[in-house]
Formats: sequence, structure tokens, C-alpha cells
Amino acid sequence: MTFRAKHLLGIEHLHPTEITTLLDLADSYAEHNRRGVAHRDVLAGMTQINMFFENSTRTQASFEIAGKRLGADVMNMGMQASSIKKGETLIDTALTLNAMHPDLLVVRHPHSGAVDLLAQKVNCAVLNAGDGKHEHPTQALLDALTIRRAKGRLHRLSIAICGDVAHSRVARSNIMLLGKMENRIRLIAPPTLMPSGMNEFGCEVFENMEEGLKDVDVVMMLRLQKERMDGGFIPSEREYFHRYGLDADKLAHAKPDAIVMHPGPMNRGVEIDGNIADDINRSVIQEQVEMGVAVRMAAMDLLAQNLRASRTPQGQMV
Ligand code: NCD
Repeated sequence: MTFRAKHLLGIEHLHPTEITTLLDLADSYAEHNRRGVAHRDVLAGMTQINMFFENSTRTQASFEIAGKRLGADVMNMGMQASSIKKGETLIDTALTLNAMHPDLLVVRHPHSGAVDLLAQKVNCAVLNAGDGKHEHPTQALLDALTIRRAKGRLHRLSIAICGDVAHSRVARSNIMLLGKMENRIRLIAPPTLMPSGMNEFGCEVFENMEEGLKDVDVVMMLRLQKERMDGGFIPSEREYFHRYGLDADKLAHAKPDAIVMHPGPMNRGVEIDGNIADDINRSVIQEQVEMGVAVRMAAMDLLAQNLRASRTPQGQMV
């Protein structure tokens, strides 16, 4: 058994072989998606509920398409963060949903750890679609697949993660995944947006884009997460773009074949120059979205297999 996890809550507890298993399956789904091959039997008869307590465009759409492509009955519950109370209410919601016997629960929540908590209360497979500043495992997996396809490997690469590292669950999950696969990770951010102690995670830390981008294979840009900032972290967006926005001059310091990534949604002219984002010779941003569907199909397929294997004839998880 090469993928044992019951839930996909984060990258932290995944073994490198589980990551490789998932990426291999996702790679084949990516090829099938391009050819329009359907796999409606994989999740046939299963119910998938998407619960998004925070706004999302691509992640929610991607999970929905992935589930439908595999034949699940998909239900979207629009949960406005402002209309729910924390703690007990979340657990109550979980118990209510659990009583409807879903098989897969996809959850995005503004609080770190909320998805883990929920997973303890339900007897279906839970997928974390982003919890606060904590983890966003399917994003890191789709980034990994995109890198592997572009570079032909997922080890011994030099990868720069640039921008608002402090508020980014995308950065956290990527640092763990890329570290587990033995890559060199460079973090580039203004001191106000760089968490302390990042060297202990084996990352090299830079304040200057030109130095940090030198000879890297991959440039991963992050969005300025203004919704998670409770004060002034940057002097102005103009100044930020000048020092940290990815433009042709800064990109020239990376390897000539370096790829450019961004998880979206992008702020053009703030963290990335629109011309770089649209340069099909360098930017793999659209491919990241494409791989997102394939990775979510693979994740739900593997979790559904484990769920089936663990269920008693009465439908309980053991
Ligand atoms: C990311 C997220 O929501 O964490 N976006 C995404 O899932 N595509 C990154 C972001 O919002 O900046």
C-alpha cells in the first residue's frame, strides 16, 4: 500500500512515496483529461460535499469538476465566514453533515486547524482546501506536478518562493513538500513578510530578489494576502512592485529556462508584471490550474479507495 492516508489534511504527514504515488496517478489523469477520457465509475455512488467558509474561485471549481469527472454526486455549500460562529458551531455543522453520510468532505476555513478538528468528528474522508495560514495541500501537490512535468524531475531543483511568505498557506505546504523531495528552497521577502526561524526548515532566506533568484530553476510568486494583514506590512504597492514584483529584469537573474508560477488569484503590477504572467515560454500559471483538477481527482480517488477498504458492511469507518 503506497498511499495510506485516511484524510488529506496537509503535506506534513505525507511520506515521499505517498506524494509520488499521488502525483503519478494525477499525471495519468492529466493525460486522460486532455483526451477527454471519462472515469465516472471511480466515485460512482459517492457523495462529495464542498464546504467553503472562505472565498474561492479556482479551488472550489477545481474540486467540483474533479468530483463530477469521477462520477461523484457533488454538493456545494456556500458558507459565509461572517454568518458562522467559531468552535462549537463548526462542530455542530460537521455533525449535521455527517448525519447525511457524505463520503468526501472538502473544506476551506479561515482558521488554521479548523479542518483537522472537523476531520476528528466525521466518518468520511476530509480534504483540506486551505485552512488559515496553515496548509493548502492540494495546491502544493498541483505545484509539484507542474514542476515535475516542466523540469522532468522533482528533486535537486533550486526553487525560489517569493513574496508574502508570512501569511501564506501555499508557501507553508510547498516548503514541506519540496523539502521532503530534497530540493533547495530559497525564500525571498521583505523582513516584515518573512516568518522568523525559516532557516531551521532548511530554507535559505533572502531580502533581495536579485540575489535570491540567482540561478534558480523555479520562481514561485505569492499573492500579497491583504485579508490576513492587520496593519501596514509594506510601504505601498508601488514600492513593493519595484522591489519584489517579478519583472523581466529580476527574472533575468534566474536560469534561462526557469519557470514562473503563481497560485492565483494574481495581482498584476503588484507581485508580478502582467507580461511575465502571460509569457507562454516562461509562465506555467495556466498549467497549474489544469494540474489542479488532475491532482484533486487523484487525491479523491486514493482517499475513496482507502475509505471503501476501511468501511464495515454497515458503512462505519474502522
Ligand atoms: C491560494 C489560497 O487561497 O490560499 N489560492 C488558491 O487556492 N488558488 C493563494 C491565495 O489566495 O493567494
